[in-house]
Parts: sequence; structure tokens; C-alpha cells
Amino acid sequence: MTKRRARITGWGKYVPAKVLTNDDLAAMVDTSDEWITARTGIKERHVRTENDTTTSMAVQASLDALHVAGLNPEDLHLIIVANSSPDYLLPAPANFVQHALGASCPAFTIAAGCSGWVYALATAQQFIATGVYQNILVVGVEIISYALDYTDRTTCILFGDAAAAVIVQPSLDGEGVLAFELGSDGSQAHHLWVPGGGTVNPVSQKVVDQREHYIRMNGQEVFKFAVRKLTTCLRNITAQAGLTLDDLDLIIPHQANLRIIEAAAKHLDLSMDKFFINLHKYGNTSAASIPLALVEAIEEGRIHPGDTVGMVAFGSGLSWAGAVLKMGMPVASVLTHNGHARANA
Ligand code: UT7
Repeated sequence: MTKRRARITGWGKYVPAKVLTNDDLAAMVDTSDEWITARTGIKERHVRTENDTTTSMAVQASLDALHVAGLNPEDLHLIIVANSSPDYLLPAPANFVQHALGASCPAFTIAAGCSGWVYALATAQQFIATGVYQNILVVGVEIISYALDYTDRTTCILFGDAAAAVIVQPSLDGEGVLAFELGSDGSQAHHLWVPGGGTVNPVSQKVVDQREHYIRMNGQEVFKFAVRKLTTCLRNITAQAGLTLDDLDLIIPHQANLRIIEAAAKHLDLSMDKFFINLHKYGNTSAASIPLALVEAIEEGRIHPGDTVGMVAFGSGLSWAGAVLKMGMPVASVLTHNGHARANA
């Protein structure tokens, strides 16, 4: 029986206008452009303006994705939003995004840190494979800057805000999600977490005074985990798809730290040319990282019709998630109003 796979037919992104450079951060904490560049590869990141909300950013990216796919919000059968920085603790962002888009379909949120969007894509693949839904919006959005302690140089230099979205629709001709792997190791949760503000340690004056409502990270432990998972997950998903690493035309790694990607490339004996990198412009945008890189790879012509793309995310959880996709859309000479390639042109 022919397998129904989730194929990407639309894509869009939204990046806030405000830029925070390494020099800007050096004026706030004891760091330097040299240190950040050498240790991470990041040069600047975007952070939300007063007009940006998690919902508004998701909606901007989603409208572009719908436009590229040639769909209207009312055509959507499901919305999945990957997010760990919601506008409100309740309800989760997907409901706000559904309402703001004017869609009337079900919507839910996946909170799996930086791995969230790949978890969401794998979830969308299940609804497509079973034939339950046809037109699914999969969004990754983060205003992670709200959870950053701008007195902590070990975390505030790494992250930025962004949104990116894709539309997936069924394909019966071998395009779409070929394989995926999802993983969790909760024994390492405390290496990347926000210790205050939840039910165990609710918001209080003490939580605020001790800055426990901000992200805390054991960078070295996360670094080792990231290199290990990027390496093993890429091997696993390509094997599961019946492919070798050489068969991948492009690899989209989570954009956390250039040194993590370089270490994995070395372990895998792959050229860095095979990896798409945009972290120098955005830093780590958490759940938006992989879709933002995917959208930019399409826009820059790094992905061609029929290409096979591998992607691996890792982060809070500690979690990881990878997928191999056969790209079906004709990458285009036909451009939409905003410069995006139009699907099915
Ligand atoms: O989605 C997953 C999210 N998280 C990650 O991917 C993070 C993974 N980890 C990392 O990317 C790296 O561990 C960091 C970039 C966070 C840190 O780089 P590192 O090479 O592991 O540095 P380190 O923690 O070993 O620190 C080396 C030195 C320390 O000083 P001493 O103790 O040697 O005097 C730090 O205090 O660098 C110092 N340092 C800094 N110096 C200038 C730490 N952060 C900074 C900074 N500017 N921003």
C-alpha cells in the first residue's frame, strides 16, 4: 500500500525588527564580541519589540506559509504550535493563533523546548498518515528573551526570538517525512530549565529575588549531549529511511552553537558544506530554530525539488528529535509578494 506522507507545501517566517548584537550584550554583561563569536559563532540575534507577541509572530509566519501553499485559514484541518514561551500560562498559544488566523480547526501546543517543532512535524505526519487531516499548519515560535536573565552571560548571549511555519499536506508519491526519531532523557532535565514559576516553586518574591524565573543552564553538559544526539540521531534517521549520510543533500541542525555542529560534522566525517547555518544572524531561537533555517534554506535556493533533507533538534528536556524529508515542491522561479517561492508553481 502506498504510504501517505506529510509533504511541505508552504513556508513562512517572522523575525522581530529589533537586533541585539554581541557588542550590545557586551555593554550589559562581562562578555565580548570575540568571546561570543569564537565560542558560539553567533554575531547577533533578534528580540521582540513591544508590538510582538508569541501569537502575533506565529500568525505572521503562518499567513506567509498559507499564502505559499495557496490555502486560506478556513482550509486548515489542524494547527500545531511548538512553543515554550507562551503569551499566557493558560491557554496555550495554539488557541490564540487559531483565533487570530480566523481558522476554525482544532489547535494544540507542544512544549518540547528546542525539539518542539520536529515533535510537531512528526505528530502532523501521524494525522496525515492515518488520513484524518489533510491541511496542517505546523508552527515553531519563541519569545525566549522573556525568560533570559540579562545579568547571566552564560545564557543571555545564546538565544533570540523568531517564528517560522510550514503547511503540510498528504503526498502519495514518496515525498514528505521519510523517517523520524523522537527522544527524551528527563534525568538530565535540571541541565536546562526554569526552576521557578511552576507548581513546585510558584512565583513569589523569593523566586523573583533569586532570579529563578529565568533559564538556568549547565552549558557544558548540554553541549556534550547535543553533539552526541546530533551525531547518533542523524545516523539513526538516515538508516531508518533506508539511506546513508551521503544521500542527504542538506542537513539542518538545531542552530544552537557552531562548535556543536562542527564537532558533529567531524564525528560523522561530513563536510560543513552539508550543514545549513544561520545561527550567526539569529542565535538559538529554540522551537523556531529548525523551521526558520528550513525556510531560509528554501529561500536561498539551498533546497531543490527532490532533495533529501535531514534535520535534528535538541534541547530542554533534555530532548531530541530528528526527521528526514524528501522535498517535493518545485523551488521556484515564481515568487510571491514577499519574495517566497510559490509551491506547486
Ligand atoms: O538548545 C540547546 C541550548 N543550549 C545549548 O546548546 C548550549 C550548549 N553549550 C554551549 O553552547 C557552551 O557550553 C556555552 C557557549 C554556553 C559556553 O561555552 P564553553 O566553551 O562551554 O564555556 P565554559 O562554560 O567552559 O566557560 C569557559 C569560560 C568560563 O570562565 P573561567 O571559569 O574559565 O574563568 C566562563 O565563566 O568562559 C566564561 N564565560 C564567558 N566569558 C565571556 C561563559 N560565558 C561567557 C561569556 N563571555 N558570555
